[in-house]
Amino acid sequence: MKETYITTNSQALTESDSPVLEIWGPTSLKGEVRISGAKNSALAIMAGTLLCSDDCRISNVPSLMDVGRMVQILAALGVKINRKQDTLEINATEIGQTQAPYDLVSQLRASFFVIGPLLARLGVARVPLPGGCAIGARPVDLHVRGLQAMGAEVTIEHGIVHAYVKGSSRRLKGASIYLDYPSVGATETIMMAATLAEGETTIGNAAQEPEVEDLANFCRSMGAKIRGAGTNTIIVSGVERLHSTDYPIIPDRIEAGTFLVAGAITHSPISLYPVIPEHLSPVIAKLKEVGCNVILEDYKRLRLVPGELRATDIETLPYPGFPTDMQAQFMALLTKSEGNSMVTETVFENRLRHVAELQRMGADIKVKGNVAVVKGVPFLSGAPVMATDLRASAALVLAGLAARGKTVVQGLHHLDRGYENIEDKLRQLGANLQRV
Ligand code: EPU
Repeated sequence: MKETYITTNSQALTESDSPVLEIWGPTSLKGEVRISGAKNSALAIMAGTLLCSDDCRISNVPSLMDVGRMVQILAALGVKINRKQDTLEINATEIGQTQAPYDLVSQLRASFFVIGPLLARLGVARVPLPGGCAIGARPVDLHVRGLQAMGAEVTIEHGIVHAYVKGSSRRLKGASIYLDYPSVGATETIMMAATLAEGETTIGNAAQEPEVEDLANFCRSMGAKIRGAGTNTIIVSGVERLHSTDYPIIPDRIEAGTFLVAGAITHSPISLYPVIPEHLSPVIAKLKEVGCNVILEDYKRLRLVPGELRATDIETLPYPGFPTDMQAQFMALLTKSEGNSMVTETVFENRLRHVAELQRMGADIKVKGNVAVVKGVPFLSGAPVMATDLRASAALVLAGLAARGKTVVQGLHHLDRGYENIEDKLRQLGANLQRV
């Protein structure tokens, strides 16, 4: 059976029609690239609009396949949703459905995030288990345990998580929750659920990612009482209702990091705007270790100053550690850095699948368990390669920019999930590439 992908403009593509990206290298880039709004903020905030019974406007929303899928999920729940350029106008006054459709949830893990807001708002939610994905099993036990601690009854039947709140008020109750692991999604689920709960919720060992803080700021713009987001302890005092808002999403630190690596791997001085430089601290520190410099040109504008590339070690960790979402792109860079680098993936159990594709391009990488040892080679050679997940696809594009000859990247539906107009952006910087 042919696999079907749903694009943001609802075209259906089948695998046999799937486009590929041809890239001719090595390339030199120059100029400035505009960074889009953060995918992972947008997805969580879109789920968060279910908390509000008035109109919400969210701006700086990237045009991505994942955002398109989340639009479909909200629409399936009965939410009115309208896109005007980079702004989504969302009205969740009437939520006609409490069950998210399996065929959409299975395509987008972030859609599980609707469980917290649905439960907080309506006292009932039914969301299919999102299942595993290319980078790991990705269970939702921490989300579920958090909701149970707040008084929800949760059962899992026929692959669907049924959650409901007993009692006439159907309101969740504030609780003190300590996460076994600072999961981004679980922190977001519990934080959203707690905004409308009775009393105070404390989330210990909370995720500190900027997208968690962005979601908290969005909820606060609707009147939620949240303190400590961006630290490892978040305190939420529940309120009875949230009001209308107009909220801009932060710039995407992972897209920005990917372009910084594009400059580094092609030895090109490029600028990025807009960015929030602090969100990129772990990535900038590693770029400096490999011999590049990153200069703050002015508020929200960074410039990559390329240098001779040398090896370094990387271990992925929850924020403010080095992001797992930048591991594949950095591995592409390390394939061309003088010496031996060790890359350790600790966040997801299966996020080294790009190694085999980079090897096809001449990279010298050995893998044992969750560790890859990368020995820098003088050059990469263009080759046909297959993207295995979103960030792996970005790594292959970066390698293609630096490799000699033609690289053909297949599996572009991964790239389209998370990078807005990446080809146009790279072409404007001088890259030679086309989708065919
Ligand atoms: N985990 C559990 N139980 C849970 C939740 C998570 O064991 O209930 C485990 C996961 O299996 C994983 C680890 O905890 O091994 C971290 O998962 P986390 O919950 O922090 O990640 P997530 O919320 O599923 C978000 C991003 C990911 C990003 C991670 C880590 C969204 C939509 N996704 O996922 O983004 O890699 O945080 O920063 O926000 C991407 O953009 O390419 C991407 C995968």
